Amino acid sequence: MKHSISTINSNQTTVRKFFDIKEIEVSALHHLSSDVYDFFSGGAGDEDTLHQNIVSFDKIKVLPRVLRNVESRSLATTVLGNEIAFPLLIAPMAFQKLAHPDGEIAVAKGAHEANVLMTLSTLSTSSFEQVKCVGQMPIWFQLYIYKDREITKNLIQQAEQCGFNGLVLTVDAPLYGKRKREIVNPLRLTKQIQLDNLQKAGLDLNAIDLPQLAPYLASLLDPSITWKDIEWIRSISSLPIILKGVMNPRDVEIAHEYNIDALIISNHGGRQFDSALSAIEALLAISEVNAGKTELILDGGIRRGSDILKAIALGAKAVMVGRPILWGLAAGGVEGVTRVLSILKSELDMAMALCGCKSIEEVNKDILFLKK
Ligand code: LAC
Repeated sequence: MKHSISTINSNQTTVRKFFDIKEIEVSALHHLSSDVYDFFSGGAGDEDTLHQNIVSFDKIKVLPRVLRNVESRSLATTVLGNEIAFPLLIAPMAFQKLAHPDGEIAVAKGAHEANVLMTLSTLSTSSFEQVKCVGQMPIWFQLYIYKDREITKNLIQQAEQCGFNGLVLTVDAPLYGKRKREIVNPLRLTKQIQLDNLQKAGLDLNAIDLPQLAPYLASLLDPSITWKDIEWIRSISSLPIILKGVMNPRDVEIAHEYNIDALIISNHGGRQFDSALSAIEALLAISEVNAGKTELILDGGIRRGSDILKAIALGAKAVMVGRPILWGLAAGGVEGVTRVLSILKSELDMAMALCGCKSIEEVNKDILFLKK
């Protein structure tokens, strides 16, 4: 993070001129120290899954429809009954104050302004209360089940009491992935980075030396979790449960048995198992088995409005966007987040118009060229 007041002001004009997400990432690169950029941008292993998440969208081609009067269009939709201005949710991401001093609060302001739903990470550097009081938009809490169930329970109850609307349970991280960039260039956390929610839940992080903090947090993950733990969460919370990190059609069938409220098709942004299928290809494999029973959210590789169009056409109710939000945050705080959201929204609007779709409901497989 390398921000001063004068650079923040001059950035605001620049941020508004950004043309696409690629340009914003280039700008973010100049605002972030190398350890932070490596932490945010890196993936597991050889980063093949990370790469495939993005390029797999290019393999899916569209057959646009014509002569369908697209003069008036609506991008509005709902996710688990929450109304959003367009089918985008902000993914949970750790340590957002490393990108910008306003961290998660700037992201919440951007989400509020754009009327989309955001998800707050367990590793948030802003408190539940600080983020919730930004506005009335729906907001979910991303949860890891830690070995210490008391701390896990306290987190869930804090989120619920604070008015959060859903629990996003991350299920693809029984262990923390092996990420070369993080090992070669470890994250240098500072005292400014406070994890208030975790502290309040009972974790004494002040007792941990700063260089050990990131590995310590990784060591809290419980590799023994199973579907039974979902019943435990249900016994202590009435919030909807959304599973993040489902990739296999067989797990979708089990999720149906457990009445999971929504599924996020995700490989954790390529940060966990390298060699996992790209998220959009997993959605292709899962849509049929799901047969519309559970709302699906596609997470991973979204960089353009046309990517959102393809995910919706393949059966996703919405997409989740992670890294581009961090790039916007790093490049210009709330203005940068707002710019990322407005670029993706206007690109989706254009893509829908050019494919003959007036509403999200009209976006379906008929516009895709899918090889048998
Ligand atoms: C990550 C963990 C914190 O991917 O979810 O960095």
